[in-house]
Amino acid sequence: MRVLVTGAAGFIASHIADVLVGRGDEVVVLDDLSNGVVTNIPEGAAFIEGDVRDPAAVDRAFTALAGPIEGVCHLAGQASTFKSFDEPAWDMDVNGVGTARMLEGARRHGAKTFLYASSMTAYGHPERLPVTEDQRCAPVSYYGITKWAAEQAVLISSKPEAMNLKAACFRMFNVYGPRQSLTNPYQGVLGIFLGNVLRDEPIRIFGDGEQSRDFVYVGDVAAAWVAALDGPPDEAAALNIGTATQTSINELWRAAVTACGRDPETYPVSYEETRPGDQRHMRANIDKACATIGWEPQVSFAEGMKRTADWARGAV
Ligand code: NAD
Ligand code: UD1
Repeated sequence: MRVLVTGAAGFIASHIADVLVGRGDEVVVLDDLSNGVVTNIPEGAAFIEGDVRDPAAVDRAFTALAGPIEGVCHLAGQASTFKSFDEPAWDMDVNGVGTARMLEGARRHGAKTFLYASSMTAYGHPERLPVTEDQRCAPVSYYGITKWAAEQAVLISSKPEAMNLKAACFRMFNVYGPRQSLTNPYQGVLGIFLGNVLRDEPIRIFGDGEQSRDFVYVGDVAAAWVAALDGPPDEAAALNIGTATQTSINELWRAAVTACGRDPETYPVSYEETRPGDQRHMRANIDKACATIGWEPQVSFAEGMKRTADWARGAV
């Protein structure tokens, strides 16, 4: 299959591109390197450096392979809930307009399948856990708004009267694993904690640390994307991608410290004010992903933590 993967100089999309290249698919990556590095892009993938908001760059990516693009995995964007409060307009532009530009590109170039990196932040504070896809979406951050809006744009584009795309929007929960940034304070929390411990810096907790998340290993996430490329849902859908488990941030920092061979009882930790847009508790119901694309996570939190800490020791 010929696949365009956006954002594959970054964390999650680089793992998807790896799997696709590894099994012999033709892959082109579009990334502006604003938050990614070229070394994350697998050898064997074509690379177009450019912005998803730039139609000329989008056209270059859609025409970079020796035949038409069949599937699009769109992950390029800004990924920080907290940062969206600093620059809401930029967040809406990159995540909202960027996705619309990619959809227009898919229409111009006749792509058949479009998969999008939505987020559990679309839910805001759910009424019930585990949260199912039919529960109300009421985002509590600018980031959550744009993820939800872009997801809806993709789902509308699946309609015959619009672009007639096969589509899925993955409401990914908190993805972790190798290549997560260990230095960027705006990236995912586990990478931040592992970087802190390996550099012997104090850990900062925003709030009381009892907020919880559903942490899902990046290899499992990549498998969901590839499954949907091979067999997209008959009807375009938003799908939760998590593990149906819940880990508090206090449990997480203790596990990260332990995985790095340090003692959580004596490790320096400070508690600071809750940041805007923070969600309290999260846990996914993943029955729909299982039923529609035959996906289930395989990697336990303990195993994923070990793999990530082993990688981080060599990367710091
Ligand atoms: P990341 O920052 O590591 O990767 C994003 C990539 O997109 C980077 O390589 C960056 O250079 C590129 N990019 C940013 N703006 C661009 C633009 N305008 N044009 C072209 N490229 C651009 O982030 P990630 O954690 O891998 O997240 C990937 C996607 O998944 C994001 O859309 C994010 O919102 C979404 N997501 C992430 C998580 C998570 O837990 N990390 C969970 C749910 C959804
Ligand atoms: C994360 C992802 C987001 C994704 C969402 C889906 C990043 C940057 N964010 O958002 O892209 O859509 O999951 O589930 O990848 N925290 C601390 N100390 C720190 C850093 C964070 O206590 O040093 C806390 C935060 O306040 C928050 C929790 O850890 O309560 C998780 O934070 P973070 O990893 O930034 O992610 P989310 O906002 O959950």
